[in-house]
Amino acid sequence: MIQSPHTIWRPFTQMSSAEPPPRVVRGEGVYFYLEDGTRIADMISSWWTNIHGHSHPAIARAIYEQACALDHTIFAEFSHPPAERLSQLLLQVLPPSLRHVFFSDNGSTAVEVALKMAFQYWWNLGKPRRSFIAFDGAYHGDTTGAMSLGSTSGFFMPFEELMFSITAAPFPEIHESGESSEDIERREADSISFIGEALAGNPESFAAIVVEPLVQGAGGMRICRPEFLLKLSELARRFDIPLIYDEVMTGFGRTGDWFACSKSRTTPDIICLSKGITGGFLPLSVTVCNDKIYDAFLSTDKRRTFYHGHSYTANPLACAAAVASTELLMKSEASFMTMEARHWRHAARLRKNQSIANLRVCGTIAAMEIKTGTDNSYFNEIGGRLKKEFLKRGFLIRPLGNTVYLMPPYCIDEDTLEGAYACIDEVVAALS
Ligand SMILES: Cc1ncc(COP(=O)(O)O)c(C=O)c1O
Repeated sequence: MIQSPHTIWRPFTQMSSAEPPPRVVRGEGVYFYLEDGTRIADMISSWWTNIHGHSHPAIARAIYEQACALDHTIFAEFSHPPAERLSQLLLQVLPPSLRHVFFSDNGSTAVEVALKMAFQYWWNLGKPRRSFIAFDGAYHGDTTGAMSLGSTSGFFMPFEELMFSITAAPFPEIHESGESSEDIERREADSISFIGEALAGNPESFAAIVVEPLVQGAGGMRICRPEFLLKLSELARRFDIPLIYDEVMTGFGRTGDWFACSKSRTTPDIICLSKGITGGFLPLSVTVCNDKIYDAFLSTDKRRTFYHGHSYTANPLACAAAVASTELLMKSEASFMTMEARHWRHAARLRKNQSIANLRVCGTIAAMEIKTGTDNSYFNEIGGRLKKEFLKRGFLIRPLGNTVYLMPPYCIDEDTLEGAYACIDEVVAALS
């Protein structure tokens, strides 16, 4: 298989300097196998999707059986058992007020759907609103609406003219060391008053508030407290403005509970889910809303219909994979609920490493900053160097700039987890 390194244009990759990527031929549990037999531990669950480990036989079987029965059907015209079963399962694990499931294909479209739902909600009420509140450093995906919400992330500069403007509130991230709870509470209060003032100043301008609850992912694994979400949801309720939780990354156990909303005991009006939904097998996402949003679309006036859908909406194979994955997760809740303690146990060794700061854990996610004396950002060059060294030692760990994080499949064994922490310790110590 010889082809030019430029035949395939890879995502998030500067092709002028990219080395040809290693070729993966097999996956099993936490591990990938390259064509030369090299074994690599997937410590980031392949872009945060693969929650049960690779090629789990129960999910593979579900897809095969569904493929033999029905490959695909137009969802605007027909329904099918896997979509119905999945919706039923999701309603069992989501907060009770989230009752209406809209399917799409990936995290970005799940967010785009949520934005359009909130936007049209106001239009259908005859009170159009044009703008959104999001957070500093947020990342919600690559489609135009999602990019607009994430315009402060630094990824989307060439598209500035294309994006709509948003109001970006400060994200009150917690830092592990040297912080009093008063400091954190002050930052939370600042953020809440910033949003409160924006809403009070333009009461009829904002269609929704959108947040990555508990953990901002691509923005650098920045963690906020559940208490902040409680204050945010009270504020949204007070101003009667829809609250959208983008749980594309945090959903399906990532924060140590089923969802960040369950962990924080808050309930949004709309939730976006993808990534872990099929256990990393097939692209799928859902946007789930409450009665208040849904009811605004029920009408004899056709213009109030939600005219949105994709060719592969609710693809039966993806739904079958998601059913199998959700059923597995229901049987193995301890796997994600116990991982926070496991991370802390292994992370203890890093406290002695002088080059590591701001060690933090939320559920199955552990993150830290590598001190470089330059900027703390995605564009810090150290990330690429570290990644290469980790890979040489058999670990896929893909830093976001100088933020190193672990987000493994929940089936990871103690030895592999210990090995990943030892690898980080060794590689980072060798830098100085
Ligand atoms: C919070 C969040 N929202 C949305 C997205 C976009 O998802 P996708 O890459 O599947 O479009 C991501 C991707 O990392 C994400 O972390």
